Amino acid sequence: MNILGVESSCDETGVALVRAGPKQQIPELRAHALHSQIDMHQAYGGVVPELASRDHIRRVLPLTRQVLADAGAQLSDIDVVAFTQGPGLAGALLVGAGVACSLGAALGKPVVGVHHLEGHLLSPFLSKDPPQFPFVALLVSGGHTQLMRVDDVASYELLGETIDDAAGEAFDKSAKLMGLGYPGGPALARLAEFGDAKAFDLPRPLLHSGNLDFSFAGLKTAVRTQLMKLANVCEQDKANLAASTQEAIVELLVRKSLAALKETGLKRLVVAGGVGANARLREMLNAECAKRQVRVHYPELSLCTDNGAMIALAAAMRLQRGIAKTSTDHTFNVLPR
Ligand code: KG4
Ligand code: ZN
Repeated sequence: MNILGVESSCDETGVALVRAGPKQQIPELRAHALHSQIDMHQAYGGVVPELASRDHIRRVLPLTRQVLADAGAQLSDIDVVAFTQGPGLAGALLVGAGVACSLGAALGKPVVGVHHLEGHLLSPFLSKDPPQFPFVALLVSGGHTQLMRVDDVASYELLGETIDDAAGEAFDKSAKLMGLGYPGGPALARLAEFGDAKAFDLPRPLLHSGNLDFSFAGLKTAVRTQLMKLANVCEQDKANLAASTQEAIVELLVRKSLAALKETGLKRLVVAGGVGANARLREMLNAECAKRQVRVHYPELSLCTDNGAMIALAAAMRLQRGIAKTSTDHTFNVLPR
């Protein structure tokens, strides 16, 4: 079965073709293509929803053609069309949903709406070192920070989550305060390489809360306070503050992940979502998990941020288990929140 996946929830247009066999086999990625709108939004310091929607419209069909060509496939080879149903920007989601459902109607094939976060969560199954169920998942994106116990596809237990900002937001907002532009996470991480993570003593909210929830809003405030204290912020100050901020966020994510592993007794951790690309997070997690004989799995770096492959994959894994919510009448809705 060939599943075409379309992702358009935010500022990346992603299309992919995945082949799914029986449930015992992990679906195979045949081809994927991605267009990032980062350059377009950079001038505005963040994503402009209307511009995002218009650019998805421009990109989605050329990307679909490219994916089919790269896979050596025809439109008629597609058995199911999957699209990101939410969460995300309403207008942006509607582009992917509209195209997927039109394609499904034209080809006479069913369509499947996919939860964007399930896509992120399952994306490590496309890596060279795929996980096995059950595992603890640390889901860290621009909008979400969650710890979950995952027993199988669609069998998720929320263990803890952020009570305010997401980890990605903490990176992005701190970066913005430091004037690092958009997207802030990668920019802050790059600058942090030149800084001293011990230079600033930043708070670790909820570190000792005794539960698995996160809080990052206070961190952003602390970054603002530090910046105000420094009369003239030199480049080294900025690098030190970037490194200190990254260290605080990463330490919170690592400590709570370890607590979740301890609480569940599981020996496997899956990290997914854009912040999962952070090198310091991977370094600290790898070191701490190695000490505890815990195996850590990540998506391939190219599949850490939004992409169509994870959407096709999530649909494929649900189809393999007979639990995909397929629609054959090609009406659709999106779920932005
Ligand atoms: O998963 P994602 O691509 O989109 C959402 O679904 O939100 O995650 C985007 C988030 C942004 O906040 C971005 O700054 C952050 O992931 N991010 C990073 C890195 N790469 C992306 N944060 C820290 N370090 C990185 N290397
Ligand atoms: Zn995402």
